[in-house]
Amino acid sequence: MTPTDPSTGGRPPSGEPFTHEVLLVGGGFTASHALAAAIRSSRTIAVELCPRANDAVDEAIRCCPTVVLLDARDGGGEVLRVLDEFHASPEVGAIPLIVLATAETAAIREDAFARSVDDFIVEPVSRVELLSRLRTHSTGYLNIVRRNRSLAAYEALQAELRHANRALDDSRLRLAARDGEGTEGHWRERVSALMQIGIELNQIHDFHTLMDRILTEARHLLRADAGTIFLREGDFLRFAFFHNDSLAQRTASGDAPHVSTFRLPITDRSIAGWVCLTGQPLHLPDCYAIPPDAPYRFDHSFDQLLGYRTRAIVAMPLKDQSGRLLGVIEVINPMAEDGGPRASFSEGDIRLLEHFANVATVALERARLNDSVIMRMIRMAEIRDPSETGRHVERVAGYSTIIFEEWSRRRGLEGPAFERQRDRLRNAARLHDIGKIGVPDAILKKPGPLTEAEFELVKQHAAIGADLFLNDPSDFDEAAREVVALHHEKWDGTGYPGLDDDGQRRGRKGEEIPLFARIVGLADVFDALSSSRCYKEPWPEDRVLELVRSESQRHFDPELVEILLERLSAIRAVRERHCDPPHT
Ligand code: C2E
Ligand code: SIN
Ligand code: SIN
Ligand code: FE
Ligand code: FE
Repeated sequence: MTPTDPSTGGRPPSGEPFTHEVLLVGGGFTASHALAAAIRSSRTIAVELCPRANDAVDEAIRCCPTVVLLDARDGGGEVLRVLDEFHASPEVGAIPLIVLATAETAAIREDAFARSVDDFIVEPVSRVELLSRLRTHSTGYLNIVRRNRSLAAYEALQAELRHANRALDDSRLRLAARDGEGTEGHWRERVSALMQIGIELNQIHDFHTLMDRILTEARHLLRADAGTIFLREGDFLRFAFFHNDSLAQRTASGDAPHVSTFRLPITDRSIAGWVCLTGQPLHLPDCYAIPPDAPYRFDHSFDQLLGYRTRAIVAMPLKDQSGRLLGVIEVINPMAEDGGPRASFSEGDIRLLEHFANVATVALERARLNDSVIMRMIRMAEIRDPSETGRHVERVAGYSTIIFEEWSRRRGLEGPAFERQRDRLRNAARLHDIGKIGVPDAILKKPGPLTEAEFELVKQHAAIGADLFLNDPSDFDEAAREVVALHHEKWDGTGYPGLDDDGQRRGRKGEEIPLFARIVGLADVFDALSSSRCYKEPWPEDRVLELVRSESQRHFDPELVEILLERLSAIRAVRERHCDPPHT
């Protein structure tokens, strides 16, 4: 075996979380420990030992390896039987199996391949090659597992969407029933129906489904034949959604021609670009008769491509609460009750679309966040550890919110900006341990205390988790990244990861640790101590509070400790709402 592994240099390369887990079966005490040490020294592959071949399947079910290495160097008489047992097991039958043999014991090779072994390695083999083959098979298996998991998460999401969409259909029916003619009372009804739609749009978590529904709602509200949503991508507007009733009737499939790859630079030369630049709505009664002094032109090629005649357009910016432009919605060609064309959009239509755009933007913002970041991540973590994660994160989020509310009350902070911060904290808190998806179960579920090396790996959950929030930094991502990265820092500077912004070793202390991370850090420990863990019994409340008090100024921000003690009854209520089931 070669002494060093150049591909890893002894540390997990950044961005590659520690996820490979080998179950080493058989091999005798000395040989298997030497092999395990060689594999472990890669720091990217964890090892569990199973000395007795008879126990291999049970052990695999228990510790969920991502690859099994069967040591046949000492004869390997039992290896073929173990291969059969694995393939017959529904729980572990898909885990890749590798046999390690010597020239003397390689005679079972043909039989092993006949039993669908995934790989057969004959010594001498370099450590680099062995690790590489283990990683390759493990990665293949992990990809399958991930696909299955995201499929399950996706199906759950679909069920939710179906539910929300049904609610939306109901509200549209109510809206249609109220659709009288232009009185003030009629207007108020349209607006209140709009609010109802807003509430229901907010139940849709899937970004794309939501956009589709928004366009449908906008067209129904204004009784328009067609509509488009452009989404902003840097300096471009991407043509994201397109509806057109009269084209859909003409094409047999009902599908609009494929135009979704179309992009428009944001300049005042196009209609959507002008709206995006100025942030103003635009109403064009006939886009083939745009006044020559206007900077924008209507792009006829689109109509030509689709065989359509665009007449009137109302284009409305989609602006979020901080004034950032998410995109532009265009509603095209008003229709009369009987399905024929209507002369033009009314002032009321335009005002209504303006309100609608506000409602839609709130839902879009939320969905983009929920959909792309929070929902899927929390689900992934729950799939990984269904017994603990779900309730623990809800409790930590609940305690954190209570602490933040009191902290803000003391400073006179309230109103929508405060509420937005509180929502951010709640979701960031729910994600605080998301990085544990990169830490092997063998460690997280270890019933006893951790070795120093194991604890070093656990500590990486902060950095692994924080890396997930590096792309597309939004305000929410910022909050989540801080909480995930820094929830184990301590007030006195002795926590981890203990790095400053430049990656230098210097633990943050006091208010250098962001408020959200200090809050979640306290809430997390309070909950960990009060709950049972695979490595500890739950502590009674007085013991928990004693530790929390004694760690004030040391681990915790003293003001936050004070707040926690003051709001204890609210915290107990959260605890009861999300309590763990009794042990079975
Ligand atoms: P966790 O179980 O959610 O614990 C979160 C934090 O609560 C811990 O962060 C620690 O600050 C506090 N805590 C939990 N249990 C105790 C305790 O018995 N005494 C005291 N004084 N504090 C406690 P820490 O230490 O950074 O650990 C992070 C994570 O590492 C833990 O999350 C858990 O997943 C894992 N871990 C820590 N110790 C052990 C252990 O002995 N065995 C196993 N299997 N896992 C451990
Ligand atoms: C544009 O000119 O803005 C693109 C076409 C449209 O607005 O529908
Ligand atoms: C959320 O509602 O999930 C977070 C709110 C925000 O970031 O504005
Ligand atoms: Fe943590
Ligand atoms: Fe935690």
